[in-house]
Amino acid sequence: MTAPQSTPALGSNRFGRSLLAEFTLEDTVTHLNHGAFGGVPKSVARAAARYRREMERDPTLFMETRFRPLLRRSAQALGGLMNAEAEDIALVENATQGVNAVLRGLDFGPGDEIVITTHTYNAVRNAALYVAARTGAQIVEVPVTPPLDDADALVDHIGKHFGPRTRLAILDHVTSPSAIVLPLERLIAAAKAAGAQVLVDGAHAPGMLAIDLPALGCDWYTGNCHKWLMAPRGAAFLWCAPGLRDALHPLVISHGFEEGYAAEFDWIGTRDAAAQHAVPAALRYREQLGGEALIRTRNRALILEASALLAARLGCEPATSDDFVGSMRTMALPARFGTGEATAAALHEKLRAESAIQIPVRAWGGRIWLRLSAQVYNELDDYARLADALSDQ
Ligand SMILES: Cc1ncc(COP(=O)(O)O)c(C=O)c1O
Repeated sequence: MTAPQSTPALGSNRFGRSLLAEFTLEDTVTHLNHGAFGGVPKSVARAAARYRREMERDPTLFMETRFRPLLRRSAQALGGLMNAEAEDIALVENATQGVNAVLRGLDFGPGDEIVITTHTYNAVRNAALYVAARTGAQIVEVPVTPPLDDADALVDHIGKHFGPRTRLAILDHVTSPSAIVLPLERLIAAAKAAGAQVLVDGAHAPGMLAIDLPALGCDWYTGNCHKWLMAPRGAAFLWCAPGLRDALHPLVISHGFEEGYAAEFDWIGTRDAAAQHAVPAALRYREQLGGEALIRTRNRALILEASALLAARLGCEPATSDDFVGSMRTMALPARFGTGEATAAALHEKLRAESAIQIPVRAWGGRIWLRLSAQVYNELDDYARLADALSDQ
């Protein structure tokens, strides 16, 4: 990897640390972990607060006349973003709920196989294990072992585990521990060719990758709006292929039962859905920054520069080649940093406490890994600060 250069490809002058003033984030902290719990522009936080105030002024009027239309407006906006019909999109609180709604609604039986990978998010793995334990289905966990540099080989390797018993494949769009953008369309095609249904865990993808939901060919897709799309926490969606809508129900059955997919998911009892109502405000903010394509391109360019910087300064090694990268990247620290979960946890805490750097540090596969995020408010200096702090270790 060559030494980092600052390239003009990084886009509008508004990107970078000065944008932190438009976010609710603490500006004395170097935020390199957008991928975990997001971060919200002030205009979006204000929009959510306005919906909440409106609700509190006249709860009956709001719940009876505004609650559902505002949710449908959010579904419409998400549909516009991902080329989908609003009626195929349900708002849920988070990707974990989306995954659970699908998994727990399917009738698995003994002999059925649910395929996941060793990089499946732990909460999702737990939900699959829960369902398997109650139905006699088997979990097939495909080992995925970085470093990865060959998408064809990865598709072949995972694809070998799809067979006549595969009832469901749960495929990440972007893996959590390793930030790998999987070759999703080809994996979906391989699973479908084996006769399996496919649930995509796209927790990280909206706002990071271009998504055309119907074109993917999967059966269900869940994604968070509260990560890369910059909506408040508690905003996510579950998309369902049109023919499957009537068979999918929320985990909570309420008034909307059998009144259609959207009606069932929109009303799961009285609740505050201000985060979901504020999704269009998040999309408007992103438009104002230059739009989805520019944000995606700029963040990817930045993460590539950032990883080159860490490779040059510290000898960090990326988990994958560039073709598997969105706006996060996982890099292994050199052996001198040690191994094991306790070492990783201590390093994470030290970076936060002594250098005010927020970054996930995890141990897996015998190495310690940094997961870098690049969001619009980050700039190359943020990663240089990380390299400085790690050079002092
Ligand atoms: C791949 C993946 N799936 C699911 C989730 C769960 O997201 P949430 O906690 O919003 O449900 C995450 C969270 O980071 C994730 O990375």
